[in-house]
Amino acid sequence: MKEATKYSEADIEDLNRQLAGKSAEEIVRWAGEAFGGGIKFANSFGAEDVALMDIIAKAEPQIRVFTLDTGRLNDETYQVMEDTRLRHKDIPIEVMFPDSDKVEALTREKGFFSFRDSVELRKECCGIRKVQPLKRALADAEAWMTGLRRDQAVTRTDTPAVEWDAGNGIVKVNPIIDWSLDDVWTYIKANEVPYNKLHDQHYPSIGCAPCSRAIKDGEDIRAGRWWWENPEFKECGLHD
Ligand code: ADX
Ligand code: SF4
Repeated sequence: MKEATKYSEADIEDLNRQLAGKSAEEIVRWAGEAFGGGIKFANSFGAEDVALMDIIAKAEPQIRVFTLDTGRLNDETYQVMEDTRLRHKDIPIEVMFPDSDKVEALTREKGFFSFRDSVELRKECCGIRKVQPLKRALADAEAWMTGLRRDQAVTRTDTPAVEWDAGNGIVKVNPIIDWSLDDVWTYIKANEVPYNKLHDQHYPSIGCAPCSRAIKDGEDIRAGRWWWENPEFKECGLHD
């Protein structure tokens, strides 16, 4: 059952004012103090998230961590999941799987690459493999945390550090929202954080294996995600 949250939509503006100019560590500390174990970090194990995981482990290790294992991830992603698990042995990583009946029905009826056929079918796959498991992960959360950054995508340019997630009815905290990609890599290198080796092969943004590819010099950092779609559609429903 969902716990009563101490913050509502009406508090968001105030919270953003209070947290303006604070560092990622300070925002993580605030979130840990405000929500304790009631806040859950959604870790995709991309560069942003391994950096944020390290900050959380050092600052507020009671923040719970989960990942959405869609069943279509790259081996390199499982490897960084394992490296991270071994680095932070005292922080359990909750792994959310999609509903097996739904995946079985999807592949039986529409095949293994239905997401290539239309935005609607792609969103159906993301719905089953990501959004529904996210909702399950958040069912016992008062708030959640992400590694979103404002300059990742045209769909994220107005995202604040603290948001009201109306779909899930809880607060969403984005501690590195104003970090640049350089900030992410400076943190990873300085703290020797294990990262997904696909980043060394021109994959700045990594999702599922069949929906992520390397980018060419000068391309947008999300150009390799759902590369057959227009940028304004490139959200999978986790952050719409
Ligand atoms: S996505 O919506 O396009 O897939 P992106 O890869 O940019 O998202 O990641 C943005 C944030 O969403 C991550 O920092 C993380 O908090 C969350 N997220 C994305 N994918 C996952 C996943 N598989 N498991 C857990 N969290 C995820
Ligand atoms: Fe399905 Fe691709 Fe979405 Fe992964 S990213 S859930 S494979 S459509």
